[in-house]
Amino acid sequence: MKTILAISGSTRAASVNLGLIRVIAQQYRDRVHMELFAGLETLPQFNPDKDIPGGPSLPEVAALRQSIRAADGVLICTPEYAMGLPGALKNALDWTVSTCEFSGKPVAVITAASLGEKAHASLIGTLKIIEAVITAESQLLISFAQAKIGKDDTIKDTATAGQVRLLMDSFISAL
Ligand SMILES: Cc1cc2nc3c(=O)[nH]c(=O)nc-3n(C[C@H](O)[C@H](O)[C@H](O)COP(=O)(O)O)c2cc1C
Repeated sequence: MKTILAISGSTRAASVNLGLIRVIAQQYRDRVHMELFAGLETLPQFNPDKDIPGGPSLPEVAALRQSIRAADGVLICTPEYAMGLPGALKNALDWTVSTCEFSGKPVAVITAASLGEKAHASLIGTLKIIEAVITAESQLLISFAQAKIGKDDTIKDTATAGQVRLLMDSFISAL
């Protein structure tokens, strides 16, 4: 069975993005092994001085890099903060630039936010520059997300549930 590493750009306990990851993991449990990256909040701040080519990585950074390397694909679900990406998510991506974990890696992106267009575009731009493989079918923007995703880990909005299914079906079949 293929493995997908899921990363929530929100570290909030009641996050709709985390809820979305849980719904997807449950829905697709017979087709794919979904692993949640739990270390976003404790990653050190990116500093090129601590990112020495060929040198030892900080343990938290090594764990992030290894989790991405070991996965067949990566699913990122994120909110938008102040018209951009949450800093914790951008920080994690910055740690992969020199070591190229995303190069050639299939990635699906869901931005679930109040509006979310800016974070969505920014994330896709960053992922493309680090050579992640993102198709038109593997990106989805869910605006007004709090109204569409229930606190009980359900997708209340039927159209959104269908869009998530289309994205995941196409993403998994391409792994
Ligand atoms: C500090 C802060 C800034 C935010 N800025 C934006 C924003 O610029 N655009 C937007 O669409 N939503 C914004 N939001 C709303 C979040 O995207 C929304 O609450 C989302 O559901 C949070 O994701 P989560 O439930 O996974 O934590 C902001 C929320 C916070 C807390």
